[in-house]
Amino acid sequence: MLNRAGKFSRGLTLAVMLLAGSIPWSRAAAPAAHSAVFDTNCSMCHQLGAVGVAGQFPRLAGRAGRIAATPAGRRYLGHVVLFGMMGTITVDHTQIVGGVMPSFSALSDKDLAAALNYVANLDATGKVHWKGPVVTAAQIAKIRAGKTWSPMQVHQLRQTVLGKKRS
Ligand code: HEC
Repeated sequence: MLNRAGKFSRGLTLAVMLLAGSIPWSRAAAPAAHSAVFDTNCSMCHQLGAVGVAGQFPRLAGRAGRIAATPAGRRYLGHVVLFGMMGTITVDHTQIVGGVMPSFSALSDKDLAAALNYVANLDATGKVHWKGPVVTAAQIAKIRAGKTWSPMQVHQLRQTVLGKKRS
């Protein structure tokens, strides 16, 4: 009896998993614990979970979501990944001097949106607390289609959007 019930529930679980996998939107809506795009392209500097390295690579975990709270902040995030950034910034009360964020314009709009949506949904310790996406691939495409920014101009934009004192 127990055995049969066990078999039945295993079969049911499999059926549910197959069904879930076959409905595309259910997969897209599911919050992922990791982002393959981030882990592959960003974590060598920002570290897994985007916890950063003080004085070298800014912590994005618990910060990117706050930056993304305003439309200007979301646009700034798009500019950073598309054009890179160069110029001293202060994060976690520590200056990052001579830091260079490379341009990731070689990645697709979809991948850049995925990486930003991942970091914007991390708590300060690097764990996902999914509240929803902050940018779409179409918004990244729009910034890409506009003028090309230099990494220094993106730094200027950061000063304008975040202000000097905010870290
Ligand atoms: C080679 C190291 C490196 C890689 C790889 C890298 N970054 Fe950065 N990133 C930096 C540095 C350094 C800065 C700060 C730049 C500065 O000081 O002007 C930065 C800044 C940022 C910022 C702005 C943070 C703030 O406080 O305003 C965001 C957002 C960001 N990176 C996201 C990403 C994403 C997403 C990826 C992967 C697609 C990525 N980075 C890959 C080094 C890197």
